[in-house]
Amino acid sequence: MSSYAITTFGCQMNVHDSERMHEVLRGAGYTEAEASVADVIVLNTCSVREKAEQKLRSEVGRLAKQKRNQRDLVVVVAGCVAQQEGERLVKQLQGIDLVVGPDNIPELPRLLEELAQGAPPIVRTVFDTETPKFLTALSVAGASKTAFVTIMKGCDERCSFCIVPYTRGPERYRPSAEIVAEIAALVAAGVREITLLGQTVNSYTDPTKSLPPAPDANESDPDESEFAALLRAVAEQVPDLARLRYTSPHPRHLTRSLIRAHAEVGVLARHVHMPVQSGSDRLLKRMIRRYSRAEYVERTAALVAAVPGLTLSTDIIVGFPGETDEDFDLTLSLVREVGFKGLFGFKYSERPFTPARKLADDVTEAQKSERLARLFELSERLLGEHLAGLVGSTQRVLVEGLDKEKGELWSGRTDRHEIVHITGAAGLDLAGEIVDADIVRNNKHSLQGELSAAARASARPRVAPEKAARRSLPLVVSATQGA
Ligand code: SAH
Ligand code: F3S
Repeated sequence: MSSYAITTFGCQMNVHDSERMHEVLRGAGYTEAEASVADVIVLNTCSVREKAEQKLRSEVGRLAKQKRNQRDLVVVVAGCVAQQEGERLVKQLQGIDLVVGPDNIPELPRLLEELAQGAPPIVRTVFDTETPKFLTALSVAGASKTAFVTIMKGCDERCSFCIVPYTRGPERYRPSAEIVAEIAALVAAGVREITLLGQTVNSYTDPTKSLPPAPDANESDPDESEFAALLRAVAEQVPDLARLRYTSPHPRHLTRSLIRAHAEVGVLARHVHMPVQSGSDRLLKRMIRRYSRAEYVERTAALVAAVPGLTLSTDIIVGFPGETDEDFDLTLSLVREVGFKGLFGFKYSERPFTPARKLADDVTEAQKSERLARLFELSERLLGEHLAGLVGSTQRVLVEGLDKEKGELWSGRTDRHEIVHITGAAGLDLAGEIVDADIVRNNKHSLQGELSAAARASARPRVAPEKAARRSLPLVVSATQGA
């Protein structure tokens, strides 16, 4: 039977889609192999910024060369560039056999079979708008301690810079009972932390209309959704879940019902990633973000007031068309005012089909670089001060696995998303445990803590250290431009 390899570019949604592709292909009898020897190579692509798209083009070029020696090699382009370019990809780039959109993943085995029967290159990029499908993750006992669960797909916001509404289609929501069932199965298989996933995750409404309204839900507010109700349903129906997160929300759906859920639902993490994009009202308008700086500040302040100690992180674009020094200063002052503890910063990148193309991309590359550097300098300082302030405290850490680089150290996260490397746990198995750690030191992006005496006394011994799950922990602190 054939073998395959998947290379993933881009966001969590793509990581999640790649996992589903693995499951669909394995289910059809394919086996995973190194990319250098696989019969089928899938590139799961990102097009949110131009750089990400360029990566795909150079990778396809490389594979086209490889094909000269390996004539049976099947090259599949999936993900956002596939959806965006469709037929054009096959016409422009040599060597592509199959272009498959995010909604057509279940059809992969059938399409590969058609190719094996000698079909010419196939393009399949059809949104499942009528009957949306959400692939359920297979729950494998003993696998990862953290998992993502998709609750909605697509985006109706149409921020003027963003290609996602085009590549992922209109918003479609998953029935709440299905979401709860998937989470329950994952938790039964040993998962401790779930992150609910969606492009505007907090615009969620239940297509089956089976959720009771959440306290403080104001149904006449156009920004109200059933997201708070869903969070409550998950917490009630999966009581063994240790921690619940979500990404990415849109600020306009940070309504009173959601803030109240944060105050009352104990399983919710005390950290929220809330993309703001800019601190200038003039730019927020041009970006079609549908909130003002004051509204963003007011809503996030209400959230922090409801959940003392809750931390916020954000996404920011620098160099959006027309961004002046004054506009950028407003962004810096907003970052200080809100006190973000993590930040993804991006240089504006003009994207096909987006309304912002009508505006001149007039901020120079040098200005964009300089602004991004200043933004990171500020965010690193804010994070550094925050982490330094935690030295001497005791933190509850959900241990995710053994630290890849540091070999013997266990690593995990606090409920606020701070990364903690744990010492004093030699010979112990902490995977999936929630333990207290006494913080002794801060690194640039993480903390170091000594396992508390109580946790040490009750921990399991490590049976077969070489077989313990090794996971690298991606750091959600600050990112450079590009995906
Ligand atoms: N709501 C989505 C956002 C997807 S895009 C989510 O779930 O994450 C992720 C981030 O990329 C955006 O918040 C924005 O900061 C950045 N971005 C999107 N389009 C961009 C563009 N054209 N240029 C630069 N950055 C962009
Ligand atoms: Fe993109 Fe704005 Fe939607 S950033 S994903 S159009 S909320």
